Amino acid sequence: MNKKFFIVTYGCQMNKHDSEKIAGLLLSCGYKWAKDINDADIVVFNTCCVRKSAEDRLFGVVGSLKSLKEKKKELIIAVGGCVAQKEGVNLQKILPHVDVVFGTHNIASLPNLIEKAKNKKVVCEILRAPRDELKIFPIERKNLVRTWVSISTGCNNFCSYCIVPYVRGREMSRPFEDIVFEVEKLADEGFLEITLLGQNVNSYGRDIYNKLRFAELLKRLNKIEGIKRIRFISSHPRDFNNDVILALAEREKVCEHVHLPIQAGSDNVLKAMGRGYTKESYLNLVEEIYEIVPSCSITTDIMVGFPGEKEEDFLDTLDVVKQAKFDNAFTFIYSPREGTKAAEMKNQITDEVKMDRFNRLLEVQNRNSLKCNLSFVGDEVEVLVEGLSKKNGDVLTGRTRTNKVINFLGRPSLINKLVRVKIKEARSWSLKGELV
Ligand code: SAH
Ligand code: SF4
Ligand code: F3S
Repeated sequence: MNKKFFIVTYGCQMNKHDSEKIAGLLLSCGYKWAKDINDADIVVFNTCCVRKSAEDRLFGVVGSLKSLKEKKKELIIAVGGCVAQKEGVNLQKILPHVDVVFGTHNIASLPNLIEKAKNKKVVCEILRAPRDELKIFPIERKNLVRTWVSISTGCNNFCSYCIVPYVRGREMSRPFEDIVFEVEKLADEGFLEITLLGQNVNSYGRDIYNKLRFAELLKRLNKIEGIKRIRFISSHPRDFNNDVILALAEREKVCEHVHLPIQAGSDNVLKAMGRGYTKESYLNLVEEIYEIVPSCSITTDIMVGFPGEKEEDFLDTLDVVKQAKFDNAFTFIYSPREGTKAAEMKNQITDEVKMDRFNRLLEVQNRNSLKCNLSFVGDEVEVLVEGLSKKNGDVLTGRTRTNKVINFLGRPSLINKLVRVKIKEARSWSLKGELV
């Protein structure tokens, strides 16, 4: 009988997309999906370590599988992703019931490692450099209309707080033609929306072509028939050039949304983070985007409590939040990550101060988001319907081109279709509308 697998995914879109590759690979090897963890013969954890909280959650959940493993001796527990890359064999010291540990560049080895584990071997494989076969994965895409396309992996920025370059390796752009080929194939299969993925999409091409080719890639993908929407994450403010703003303005499929993490508003903090821009240059960029693409939605990531952040630095962050008029912001409390420069800094901030700043930031941003959303009431927008609302089966949920979630009454047959919706009500994180 075919063995069944279940995948638990933490972390960012890259990890979610990697899980689709893991699923594709396991299905191609004859494994079948399990209904849930209890039904599985193999449980794969695809993990994140960007903040301590993400790691703690993993250790809690994997730890709790110990009793399941005692009952079901044949169960194989595999841990991959960023925590696996960071911890390697250490992980099996902390969690001895884990059978397989595989790094972020070792997805291709997973079926092999599982075979070894079946013979009661405990295995760990962590590569430092990506393998070529990463290019030819079968991908089990979760959605049939919207999907991710990876354009680069890794990161060369080494922002002083961030673990990503250590666990994902150096930046590697995929060849231009490979990406075009993949998107053409997706268009043939009926996909309407693609989201281009990279830790820093704007630096796409630098490593293999010696120049930035992201704007050119957007223009090329815009020509592919069948694709209706093109999105991308994340953008680094330092590499966001004018050509990309023009692509947003001129290419009808490139959606009017930029996720532009600022992290902090104070020049001192930005410098200590190694971000390569200032408050002023960031605000100028935002202004330029709004000037050329007035309907553009800008969202961001912001962190509070970076080592040495003074009250006046934090007030700079609040000031940018007010000036930049972010549609939304993902807000985080700085979490020291072992091995990064910032974790070694002596001037760490107390939890109490971090929490206070976090709450104040959230309050300002929530007010801003609501104000921003209220300004859309009465507008008619294009929505790609994603599914039924979790709260009410008669309500459909989808996204506008500007990536806002909107709920409205409608038939399930509209799922995966583009429809027109009139915005009737606004909340901080979502909109309510009516089908036109
Ligand atoms: N490559 C993306 C971000 C990847 S991590 C970029 O540069 O935009 C996603 C977000 O997690 C970051 O934008 C940052 O706000 C947050 N983050 C990263 N390291 C963190 C840390 N040590 N503590 C708290 N938040 C962190
Ligand atoms: Fe981390 Fe900075 Fe790279 Fe983003 S750009 S992944 S924050 S090092
Ligand atoms: Fe987390 Fe790794 Fe993504 S650390 S945010 S899953 S790149």
